[in-house]
Amino acid sequence: MNRRNFIKLGGMGATVLIAWPFATPLKGFSADKNQKPNPDFKPDLDIELTAKEHKVSLFNGSDTRVWMFEGNLLSGDTTSLETMGDSYLGPIIRVRKGQKIRVRFQNQLPEESIVHWHGMHVPEEDDGHPKDVIRNGETYVYEFEIMNRAGTYWFHPHPHGRTGPQVYNGLAGLFIVTDEEEQRLKLPSGEYDFPVVIQDRIIDNRNQLVYLTRGRMERMNGFLGNRIFINGKPDKILSLKSGCKYRLRILNGSNSRFYKLAWEDGTPLIIIGKDGSLLDNPKSKAYVMLGVAERIDVWLDLTNRPEGSQMTLKSLSFSPGMMGMMGGMRGRGRNSLPLGSTYEVLRINIDKTGSNNFELPQRLAEFNKLDPANAVNRNNPRTFSFFMRRMQWTINGRTWEMTGVTEEETVRLNTTEIWEIANTGGWGMEDDRKWMNGRWRRRGRGEQGRNRENMMGGGMQMPHPFHIHHLQFNVLERDISGMDSRIWNSVKDGFIDEGWQDTVLLMPGMKVKLIMQFEDFKGLFLYHCHNLEHEDMGMMRNFKIE
Ligand code: C2O
Ligand code: CU
Ligand code: CU
Repeated sequence: MNRRNFIKLGGMGATVLIAWPFATPLKGFSADKNQKPNPDFKPDLDIELTAKEHKVSLFNGSDTRVWMFEGNLLSGDTTSLETMGDSYLGPIIRVRKGQKIRVRFQNQLPEESIVHWHGMHVPEEDDGHPKDVIRNGETYVYEFEIMNRAGTYWFHPHPHGRTGPQVYNGLAGLFIVTDEEEQRLKLPSGEYDFPVVIQDRIIDNRNQLVYLTRGRMERMNGFLGNRIFINGKPDKILSLKSGCKYRLRILNGSNSRFYKLAWEDGTPLIIIGKDGSLLDNPKSKAYVMLGVAERIDVWLDLTNRPEGSQMTLKSLSFSPGMMGMMGGMRGRGRNSLPLGSTYEVLRINIDKTGSNNFELPQRLAEFNKLDPANAVNRNNPRTFSFFMRRMQWTINGRTWEMTGVTEEETVRLNTTEIWEIANTGGWGMEDDRKWMNGRWRRRGRGEQGRNRENMMGGGMQMPHPFHIHHLQFNVLERDISGMDSRIWNSVKDGFIDEGWQDTVLLMPGMKVKLIMQFEDFKGLFLYHCHNLEHEDMGMMRNFKIE
């Protein structure tokens, strides 16, 4: 491992200040930015990752047109690049903390793209910011050191306005980091470390993927498919072995659908990791809410499950707020798999017998939570409200600007901050207008009631999965005082507020306090709603570390 190098790039305190000017050398100044490998960068892993159109056979009859990443290992350990079976999803990239990786991203799509390493702590030019998109035929070279702790990360395209369709068409892979602490735990590895990517899709009668055909209201809500795909396959079946223990790495790779996951037979879900870390110890949950882009690591013990038996993972019913009503609309807009309804997510066929002796450790990761006392704004959190204004999803009333960033969104390197993220629903508190009879009017007194406005068409309340780039945060608290109790009661036992996370699901009316640290790199990074349709419509902003 490049321990020494890691310390140089990523150490603490004074080391950082000294190392900073060298942390992003050479790159980012010339016109040929990131086009060629830097000969001074010596990667442990050198990968070519090509995004291109492909045809796959998913159903009887015609092939399905998809977009996929094709990985090709140029140098490094052969186990660090895996395909996901014969799926169009993936590949899976496996790295160790301290390793250096080079990825040569080649865009062979008929449109602009760029790849983002979701959850990873990398410099601005390696983050896959929408301003760094490349065109068909071009290459973007990423070179960075793995500074994250062990966790389940992922990668996907991030061009502004086109992330939704590109992910939908098939561009998503897992990026799995391990470290010494995790290695000591001897968790299930090899075939027992099992990826599960959950997505929803609509397929037409010629076996082609269908995306957003029902107009603006569908985009405002976010795309909802009518069938679940697991690991890019419509049959939703995993074949696992009786007598064995597994680590399932579950990613919600859907565009806007989220899940209330539970084993059908009432077996608790044993959670050992969330996003960018293992938990301090395993948590037993009756169900877990899995927002878009969130990951959980699940311990699955098939020791006492006989060969020939099955297990089913379901999404249980819950009250999603306004979006559910829209999703459940009658007539043309009707979805046969409404958000919040009960349905099967996947089935496990225990069709072979084997044995392995992985044990579930009672202690997992040393959980070094950030201390609120160290936050520079501990009595005055930075607040970001997610709401709709003038028929636009906004954050604090703002929408996307490619390089625009405000004072409110500027933080200092080497500080710790508390952010309060609020899903204030329909109308922002500062908005005193309403949409009526085809034009904006000032609101009268007594019209501030949230419910009434929510019934007036434009003022929608919806869940928003909040995501921030570049770092992992801790959840300090969830404030549910503004929530409809029916919504809260239907989801309340499903949250995991431990560990290091990069995405948090905000149900309507919910506020969360997050604590985070800005370390190692200055630059322009993103925070946004990870409902991909909301993101594409501009519910995304820059923040700047200076
Ligand atoms: Cu999954 Cu902006 O990212
Ligand atoms: Cu991200
Ligand atoms: Cu949203």
